[in-house]
Amino acid sequence: MERAVDLTGVELRVADLARAPDLDDLLSGIDVVVLTANTAVPRAGDDVERFVEGEHRLIDAAARHGVRRIVLPSIPETDVDSAVPIVSERRQLEERVLETVPGSVVLRLPPFMEVWLALVGSAVPLRGEPHATIGRPSPFLRTFRRLTGTLVERRGLMLVPGPTRHRQAFIAVADAAAACVKAVERDDVAGQVLDVAGPQVLTWDDVARTYSDVLGRPVRAVSAPTAVFAALSAVLRRVAEVPSRTMALNRFVGSSESAWHEPGGGLVDVEEMTTVEAFLRRKAALPSTPSTVV
Ligand SMILES: NC(=O)c1ccc[n+]([C@@H]2O[C@H](COP(=O)([O-])OP(=O)(O)OC[C@H]3O[C@@H](n4cnc5c(N)ncnc54)[C@H](OP(=O)(O)O)[C@@H]3O)[C@@H](O)[C@H]2O)c1
Repeated sequence: MERAVDLTGVELRVADLARAPDLDDLLSGIDVVVLTANTAVPRAGDDVERFVEGEHRLIDAAARHGVRRIVLPSIPETDVDSAVPIVSERRQLEERVLETVPGSVVLRLPPFMEVWLALVGSAVPLRGEPHATIGRPSPFLRTFRRLTGTLVERRGLMLVPGPTRHRQAFIAVADAAAACVKAVERDDVAGQVLDVAGPQVLTWDDVARTYSDVLGRPVRAVSAPTAVFAALSAVLRRVAEVPSRTMALNRFVGSSESAWHEPGGGLVDVEEMTTVEAFLRRKAALPSTPSTVV
């Protein structure tokens, strides 16, 4: 696909998981699959159920083709897992992967900086991100971003799902990718489920203070109650599936904390990981760029 052309040196095989692809052709000669595709913000027109079926078929086909390992980036366990479709789907996928291809590795990752430090109201984390997750084609997300996407820069407000004292071990996408690479290579992690924290555990209030330091203006975190996200998700479920799932994901992040102390999960050296401050300073030094994925 067009979005993958910058992967120089990599042989591309394209498969649309929502449209029953030829998995035998896709998987022949493949040793390891890193399964990052997900439906947090699906492609325009995708049927989410068919996509999830496609993921399960991919796992079964991987076993048939003797794939040694599937590395599955996933999400931490919380009390609201069963109420959040994308999380319960991920949980089922974890089970399927470990049962079907026993040498597989599940990495439970905290909120990504590129995603969640932007969703709370800033365009800074999106600089230099032509394939940003929150730039994906969801009319609802685009409206939400139009309304709130630069609140931090314009008004000094960070709109946080759930309590602002909640702690998260935010991780940069490059560090999550580095953990995936290690999980591909290391024999000793076969069959394991690993929590992979970022280098620090910060509250949203800490993040607001970091934004203040980096942008040189006061920034404070304001809580949007998780009950609001739960109610919106329920109301939208029958009429607008993707917005309903986005609301449920906000409920998930607002209800949970990833306050673990396993920076890098034993896979990535903490000294090499990007802190929230380093991330925001690097982004703030870049020119603003549009980050809308078609
Ligand atoms: N975002 C977070 O904060 C977070 C936190 C913890 C764990 N994770 C995990 O990290 C991984 C990546 O998540 P992300 O948020 O960065 O998402 P993402 O990679 O930005 O977006 C979704 C991916 O799914 C692919 N995809 C969508 N529909 C597809 C289809 N029909 N067929 C094949 N591929 C399709 C997309 O390809 P196209 O771009 O070509 O459509 C894109 O590569 C996931 O496993 C997720 O569970 C994310």
